[in-house]
Amino acid sequence: MIVLEALRRGGANLAHRRGDAGLAVVQGDAAEPWGAALAAARRGALAGPVAAVIHLAAQIDVQRSLADPALDARENLVATLQAIDFASAEGARLVFASSAAVYGATDAAPTREESAQWPRSPYGIHKLAAEMHVRVAAQLRGLSAICLRFFNVYGPRQDPQSPYAGVIARFLRRALAGEALEIYGDGEQTRDFVYIDDVVSGVVAACERGPRDGSALNLGSGREHSVRELAERVLLATRSEVAVRRLPERRGELRRSRAEIQRAWEALSYAPRVGLDAGLARTVGWMLGAARTEGEGAR
Ligand SMILES: NC(=O)c1ccc[n+]([C@@H]2O[C@H](COP(=O)([O-])OP(=O)(O)OC[C@H]3O[C@@H](n4cnc5c(N)ncnc54)[C@H](O)[C@@H]3O)[C@@H](O)[C@H]2O)c1
Repeated sequence: MIVLEALRRGGANLAHRRGDAGLAVVQGDAAEPWGAALAAARRGALAGPVAAVIHLAAQIDVQRSLADPALDARENLVATLQAIDFASAEGARLVFASSAAVYGATDAAPTREESAQWPRSPYGIHKLAAEMHVRVAAQLRGLSAICLRFFNVYGPRQDPQSPYAGVIARFLRRALAGEALEIYGDGEQTRDFVYIDDVVSGVVAACERGPRDGSALNLGSGREHSVRELAERVLLATRSEVAVRRLPERRGELRRSRAEIQRAWEALSYAPRVGLDAGLARTVGWMLGAARTEGEGAR
């Protein structure tokens, strides 16, 4: 397997796989043609036909997309055009990581693939436009492709220090650091939190199965939890007693989010297995382990 990665954050989330036989991590910009960056790796031990391209690289900061839409277009739209070109040239299947952000203002819960799509940020607009390019390439170029709309993914190796880390990573980091959890508004807004292993199982299945015409499937847990309830569960998972503080409601925040996942089940046999409490426990275990390793490294 070849991973094309900008390595802007040092590729920390791949560090544990460095040196694996059959894995090459190549530094490169997904918004530039992929061939040159991948040629060297392909000349080496990893030579052979490319069966599938999993396109995950993205600028994922919604606020940054609002501040610099052109940069977001480059990283999320142009990069996907390069993925389409590469997969088409290789005769490979393309699996594109899209996002629930394409639904934007849609408050329909559960959200179905055909629910209205009104993205509210350049990030969501570019994910939706990228999906459309994938579909047109499937129609006109015979590309076998599928788009997967991830909901709120969480789990080990998510960067809790990142200013745009998801609410779970942020809550866990704060609870473990003894800092109050901060909830915007009444905390009754819901999200569909899906554990990383479940998303990975969907992505792996999509490399071999599912629609070939570039159409999109939701990958969520199919359940919704309020942010207030999440805070309570985080306190239990971390055995923390920090306060839960309310901040003013954020304008334009979605009230409800829950994926309808029936179609992913039918197409990919996608069936999320890790519930929220189990997922939180595993993530806390990883965070404590990572903190220990860092501490030992520092000694
Ligand atoms: N995490 C979520 O909840 C979530 C939800 C919906 C969709 N997604 C999508 O899933 C995918 C993975 O997201 P993630 O949460 O793992 O984010 P992440 O930031 O951890 O991973 C994205 C990776 O892409 C790399 N990258 C960014 N621009 C690049 C470029 N031009 N060239 C090469 N590499 C580049 C980054 O270095 C980073 O390692 C993204 O496409 C994201 O939009 C994630």
